[in-house]
Amino acid sequence: MPTVQSGWKKNDGIAVLCPEEHLRGIFLPSHARFVNGAEETCPFRMTSTQISQDMRYMKLALALAKKGKGKVSPNPMVGCVIVNNGEVVGKGHHEFFGGPHAEVNALREAGDKAGGSTLYVTLEPCNHFGKTPPCTDAIIKAGVSRVVAAVRDPNPKMKGRGLERLKRKSIEVSEGILAEEARRVNSSYFKMRRYRGRKVIIKFAMSIDGKIATRTGDSKWISSNTSREYVHRLRTDVDAVIVGANTALRDDPGLTSHGMGRNPVRIVIDPRLKVPLNRRVFDGTAPTIVFHSSTNTKGKLTALRKRRILAVRLHQRNDKIKFQDIIARLNDYSIFKVLIEGGGETIASVLEAGVVTDILVFISPKIIGGKSAITPVEGLGVAEVKNALQLLDTNVRKIGTDFLLHARVARPKQEGRG
Ligand SMILES: NC(=O)c1ccc[n+]([C@@H]2O[C@H](COP(=O)([O-])OP(=O)(O)OC[C@H]3O[C@@H](n4cnc5c(N)ncnc54)[C@H](OP(=O)(O)O)[C@@H]3O)[C@@H](O)[C@H]2O)c1
Ligand SMILES: [Zn+2]
Repeated sequence: MPTVQSGWKKNDGIAVLCPEEHLRGIFLPSHARFVNGAEETCPFRMTSTQISQDMRYMKLALALAKKGKGKVSPNPMVGCVIVNNGEVVGKGHHEFFGGPHAEVNALREAGDKAGGSTLYVTLEPCNHFGKTPPCTDAIIKAGVSRVVAAVRDPNPKMKGRGLERLKRKSIEVSEGILAEEARRVNSSYFKMRRYRGRKVIIKFAMSIDGKIATRTGDSKWISSNTSREYVHRLRTDVDAVIVGANTALRDDPGLTSHGMGRNPVRIVIDPRLKVPLNRRVFDGTAPTIVFHSSTNTKGKLTALRKRRILAVRLHQRNDKIKFQDIIARLNDYSIFKVLIEGGGETIASVLEAGVVTDILVFISPKIIGGKSAITPVEGLGVAEVKNALQLLDTNVRKIGTDFLLHARVARPKQEGRG
């Protein structure tokens, strides 16, 4: 007996995907495993015919996934194929941000034929309530017998839980088929750094006397062209940008990257749904979410839904939606890096929540003046300087005719939750 304690060896006759290797997406022929000296056949055993079939359908699913390119970010592109008795009975992909998931679209097409079928999906089915109910529910309900997933969802909230749930319901689960390709399709989604730390960046442009608009609310433009271009580029690097209702209403920003790259998801905090539909955030050029607290909204909600805008209701406490609640919800949507673009009330409320990690300030050599002109951080403010929020690692550079100050926020507190 060799002295191998654990490892894999070739086991002729059966082709298998070993769990360790296939988690890394490497496709291997047959294996057996030594566990503490004893030989064990890989539990993920499959015949070669099955594997080549699985690869064929997974390829089709990946091709479907790619149809979502540019429409679902920062969510992953996902494709799904349902096969029953060698016949493709359903196909679907995640078509747009906030829309039904690939599995749901494919199950809808398959109808009754989903019973007893094999479902191929390029990413582990979700098992939590995000923008839509969990896909695992739909798969179980439809009576699918086998699920083949290319890769697990890297989101720590998910990782393996969807597949575990299916197994518990006696659905056969295989994973690892074309895993490398599936990861490549969604390479930015798989960049693990995204899950290590959340970034909440505040950004504003102010005059040298600390105003972000005039007393009439005019703010076009406080900063230089170069600074604004920098912001357009910055938007390609974040998952979402957030503005308050007054900014969306008054300034009517498009919040896109102006053709510099991928557009972020646009988010408006609009508790009473007061921002009219003719504002640019609702023009459909990029995915949009509205966080609101309104109950009497039937007509407006239908109109938003028609434009594929996601309206999410969150409770208000003391007349405010807690930013912690907003950030928690964004996690579910794979939004981890956000840029808060004002105005003053919104910035005050995100700072109060203690979730900010970075601050970017464009300081323009202009003087606006006016006691009633809005400042970058409105709200109540602190009563004593000793309680002021301390910034760290400050760094200033010249950008066009402006100065750009970057700083980190001392400690993103978590208190106040609950
Ligand atoms: N220079 C710059 O960089 C810059 C950037 C953006 C904006 N601005 C200027 O800033 C001005 C607007 O600033 P602002 O302070 O009046 O408004 P704002 O921050 O744009 O919007 C505030 C409103 O958004 C809603 N909101 C925000 N956070 C909320 C929360 N946590 N919970 C519940 N509701 C929340 C509330 O809507 P309700 O009112 O419905 O309760 C609140 O009144 C404009 O004049 C604009 O030009 C300048
Ligand atoms: Zn799903």
